Amino acid sequence: MVAQRLDGKACALSVEEELHGRISVCIAAGVKPHLAVVIVGDDPASHVYVKSKVKACERLGIKSTHIELPEATGEDEVRAVIHRLNEDETLHGILVQSPLPKHMDEEALTDLIHPAKDVDGFHPENLGRLVQGRLDGMLPCTPSGVMRMLKWAGIELSGKRAVVLGRSRIVGNPQALLLGAKGADATVTVVHSRTKDAQSICAQADVVIAAIGRPEMVGVDWIKEGAVVVDVGINRVEDSTRERGWRLAGDVHPDVAQTAAWLSPVPGGVGPMTIAMLMENTVRAAEHTANL
Ligand code: GUN
Repeated sequence: MVAQRLDGKACALSVEEELHGRISVCIAAGVKPHLAVVIVGDDPASHVYVKSKVKACERLGIKSTHIELPEATGEDEVRAVIHRLNEDETLHGILVQSPLPKHMDEEALTDLIHPAKDVDGFHPENLGRLVQGRLDGMLPCTPSGVMRMLKWAGIELSGKRAVVLGRSRIVGNPQALLLGAKGADATVTVVHSRTKDAQSICAQADVVIAAIGRPEMVGVDWIKEGAVVVDVGINRVEDSTRERGWRLAGDVHPDVAQTAAWLSPVPGGVGPMTIAMLMENTVRAAEHTANL
């Protein structure tokens, strides 16, 4: 079997097409969707992500405010920026790029973002709704992007065995909740660093979502014939054959394409969906403000 590719770029394009119409309706109602993106420090990968987010706003006609703060910024100053953005009535979404510098308490800062403007879906109020099975709050972008892409490809999850590799706040945990929620109805197992026999648990799964940050750990013998595999890992691995000395690798070995029925690879898979869902959350926040 050679897996069909789950093409996140094509799916993200279809999300953006739908958003164009919704943004026009907001603007006609006197509300231009507006996202603030805050980045602290010099992490090069984070700067690349933030630029892509700002670019997506430009493409869609969403206003963006890009706030860059130096590595040595104090936590008090970031707190003050978040409070100012919360109070700005022309602003609908606030995102603080993760990771923050080590001297900052990332969770405490995320908690300060007004839940209605929390377009990342990381605030306890939004995550709490998700735990309650309510899907009408702000949902974290990468896991909700995975769900949207699976739906777009016509992949049925009801009654399927799903394994989520990883239990992070940003991906693994919310991903498991979304897969098991009413409407998706998968039976979910979370595999993490302390799990015994991770490979054999994974090998029984109909659906595998890998978000552990270990390059190509999920080999072909981890995956059942005909399974659906979504790789959410983004790892830099040394590669002396490349001019820059490294290449991007996912958590899933490329040979898995020989076993899986569907594969979202790295690169070429779900990546663009994170930004598409961020745009959708921003538009949704603007629609609330406009009573749409
Ligand atoms: N860093 C990696 N992914 C994300 C994300 O979805 N949101 C934010 N704010 N930071 C990230």
